[in-house]
Amino acid sequence: MTDMASSTPCDVICIASWNADLVSRVARPIARGETLMAHSFEIQPGGKGSNAAVAAARQGAKVGVIVRIGDDDFGRMARALWAREGIVTEHVEVAANEPSGVAQIHVFDDGDNSIAVATGAGAGLGQANVDKACEVIRSAKVVMASNEVPQAATLAAFKLARAAGVTTILNPAPAMDLPDELIALCDVLTPNESEAQTLFGKGAAAIIVTMGSQGCAIYQKDKLTNTITGWTMNVVDTIGAGDTFTGALAAAIARGESLDQAAESANAAAALSVTGRGAIAAMPTLAQSQALEQKLKNS
Ligand code: RIB
Repeated sequence: MTDMASSTPCDVICIASWNADLVSRVARPIARGETLMAHSFEIQPGGKGSNAAVAAARQGAKVGVIVRIGDDDFGRMARALWAREGIVTEHVEVAANEPSGVAQIHVFDDGDNSIAVATGAGAGLGQANVDKACEVIRSAKVVMASNEVPQAATLAAFKLARAAGVTTILNPAPAMDLPDELIALCDVLTPNESEAQTLFGKGAAAIIVTMGSQGCAIYQKDKLTNTITGWTMNVVDTIGAGDTFTGALAAAIARGESLDQAAESANAAAALSVTGRGAIAAMPTLAQSQALEQKLKNS
């Protein structure tokens, strides 16, 4: 079952994953075979795609998601979130008899985390979902995806986007081999340092390597062209920081910022995102991230 197939135009289209994040806070990584008592447990909205979509929407972009969810409580949690965030859901497919995606997350006392994702209904996202949304993809300014969705869906969407002159952004997380065909269709890749290793030398137009509190580095045709200073924040946890960067970058490009300006905007948004619990609680509005950037200019 897909929502009514109308086509509200969007600035940013996200080929999205959705997960309910099952977050346990534990002192440290758990050893094999060990049981560790957690400090707390929460269920929060997550999924790299949905997180990036929320980030872009809070930065002022009109955002639509192309995504599969289950007909279950976690799927309803997704729909409630997207409604609250003003995200267009005309291309949400609700898959009967399939579970929504879930991510089991352990957040350690030092703020770092480890994540196991079971994609559930998201594993079925493919060409058919993209075909139904071809009109909104062609009329968008930016199309973004992550490695959490099947590559067939990303490839199909990025082919349509490239043919229509729409900017494509791929967050290559979690790290995995990417076919040269897909890399060639990416205008911007946003890996973290470990994900970046396999991407250089493959002809990507632009790679922005995100480095947490160290900021980010912009490479164009494999040459370092700019570095952006990081922020020192009170880190609660880093869940969704990379997704916030990608979503905020998409929103900034959609409103016409250059790649360097957009990376600065995304850097500020990602910095603020680590100051709250879970993926989306502290994702900033445009006014909030611009206020942080202003602070730097005034200092
Ligand atoms: O990037 C953070 C996200 O990764 C979490 O929200 C979790 O759902 C996994 O997809």
